[in-house]
Amino acid sequence: MKEYILITGASSGIGYHMAVQLAELKKDLILVARSEDKLKKLASELTATYGISVEYIVKDLSVVENAVALYREVQDRNLLVTGLVNNAGVGTYGEFTKTSLEEELKMIDLNISSLVALNKLFVKDMVTRKSGRIMNISSLMAFLPFPYYSVYSATKTFVLAFTETLASELEGTGVVVTALCPGPIDTGFYNEEMLQANMMKSNKPVKPEVVAKEGVKLLLHGKGKKIVGFMNWFLSNIPRITPDFLMMKIKKNLAAKG
Ligand SMILES: NC(=O)c1ccc[n+]([C@@H]2O[C@H](COP(=O)([O-])OP(=O)(O)OC[C@H]3O[C@@H](n4cnc5c(N)ncnc54)[C@H](OP(=O)(O)O)[C@@H]3O)[C@@H](O)[C@H]2O)c1
Repeated sequence: MKEYILITGASSGIGYHMAVQLAELKKDLILVARSEDKLKKLASELTATYGISVEYIVKDLSVVENAVALYREVQDRNLLVTGLVNNAGVGTYGEFTKTSLEEELKMIDLNISSLVALNKLFVKDMVTRKSGRIMNISSLMAFLPFPYYSVYSATKTFVLAFTETLASELEGTGVVVTALCPGPIDTGFYNEEMLQANMMKSNKPVKPEVVAKEGVKLLLHGKGKKIVGFMNWFLSNIPRITPDFLMMKIKKNLAAKG
């Protein structure tokens, strides 16, 4: 039976590049996102180039029921998922008193609720089979929560805390759960407003291919959490030696528009 790696948010950004890099390694894939045209094109290109099996499933994961429906569809199609990458995610930016509650609640459903649902549903099968790997995409912001990204930062803090504690529960089961924590990446994640923030000048976004490479390594062979890049690792440790009030002032200035 073929063994698939399911990637959410595979239509663009790091999810897209992880799909390409896993295809180069001859891994069979299930691609998930909302953009059917992009998924269809990528699936046929990867199949033609690498001779692998690529399925795609269109789902809006900001509706939690669709995460459950995704799992059911995988079962109905009789696809064996041995690897899961919970990558689909969005960010909202701006003063909390002015940002849209509706968008923030949808973001929480996508970044947190659907991610938890997919972990819950797939991990049980993996534990039964005594094997499997899950990677959840967190962020540098899990270590450095930023003003103007208050709800987004909190979703990524959730993902890291959830992943590390679940990984501990699963020790000895044969199932490994990891967290990838990238800093800024040059993807469609950022809108015009976000790009104007001071932090975009001081910590320049890196290419998604570079982050995807670290993601593929962590998914296939790694353990624990991986902060991508030495500078980001260094930045993640600054709060350990800096008073909270000063740290938050610096971050507020960095997240403000320049
Ligand atoms: N870019 C950064 O600086 C950065 C830094 C740290 C962490 N991250 C995290 O990395 C992950 C990937 O982001 P990215 O930078 O690669 O951004 P991206 O290029 O915007 O990709 C986001 C992916 O998620 C999918 N997606 C968005 N909303 C969805 C929904 N409601 N249902 C299903 N799929 C949805 C998008 O596809 P469709 O639009 O086709 O649905 C797309 O494939 C996110 O979790 C993000 O929080 C990003």
